[in-house]
Amino acid sequence: MEEWRPPILESKRLYLRPIEIADVESVFAYACNEEVAMFTSWYAHDSIEDTREFIQEYVIPNYNNRIPEPWGITLKENPEMIIVTVGVTWSSRANHCMRFHYGLSDTFWGQGIIPEAGNCVLNHVFEVYKPKRIRAYCTTKNANSARALEKMGFLQEGTERAALYSKGEYRDALNFGLLDTDWAERKGIDLKETG
Ligand SMILES: CC(C)(COP(=O)(O)OP(=O)(O)OC[C@H]1O[C@@H](n2cnc3c(N)ncnc32)[C@H](O)[C@@H]1OP(=O)(O)O)[C@@H](O)C(=O)NCCC(=O)NCCS
Repeated sequence: MEEWRPPILESKRLYLRPIEIADVESVFAYACNEEVAMFTSWYAHDSIEDTREFIQEYVIPNYNNRIPEPWGITLKENPEMIIVTVGVTWSSRANHCMRFHYGLSDTFWGQGIIPEAGNCVLNHVFEVYKPKRIRAYCTTKNANSARALEKMGFLQEGTERAALYSKGEYRDALNFGLLDTDWAERKGIDLKETG
């Protein structure tokens, strides 16, 4: 049986491609960083074995279930080195609702990489999976993350108190949503035309 992988996508500066076990070193290089993991639900990786486990126990099973999370994202000039992951999972298939995931190596913060990669992923996902809604959230303390989501067109929809338990504390979550109609309007797409 042929193994499913998310397709290779391309934006102005980036390639978005599946992650394989051979990428373990470049993913570990940023996943081990406490700064990168400060606002994430996952802990910074202690050793390359943690990263291997992430790929074997999370990435590959997602692909086996045809879930496009995560894409490994590289700069075009260095297609071997993954600097960021972006992807989408189903949060409710019955409600046609998906969730957007993202996280970037600190070396590349503030260069618009997440919005660029995110735009590319969102285009693909709205076209292929046809969700009604894609949700995303970050903690109320993560202003950069909130700004990156706004730059992709997500609308802030409210705060859930103590919704995220992470690293021994409850954190308030800023909820964001992006509807297919928001996306179509942003991109000038006629949804009736595209089906
Ligand atoms: C937060 C994060 C997702 C933003 O992605 P990004 O590619 O850096 O996004 P942008 O470059 O568009 O920056 C977004 C905003 O953050 C701020 N910012 C980001 N990096 C900055 C830096 N080094 N210095 C100053 N401001 C910065 C800016 O306000 C910017 O908005 P602007 O372009 O309108 O000025 C990314 O930095 C990241 O992954 N951080 C660590 C992990 C994390 O927090 N993940 C999200 C879990 S919910």
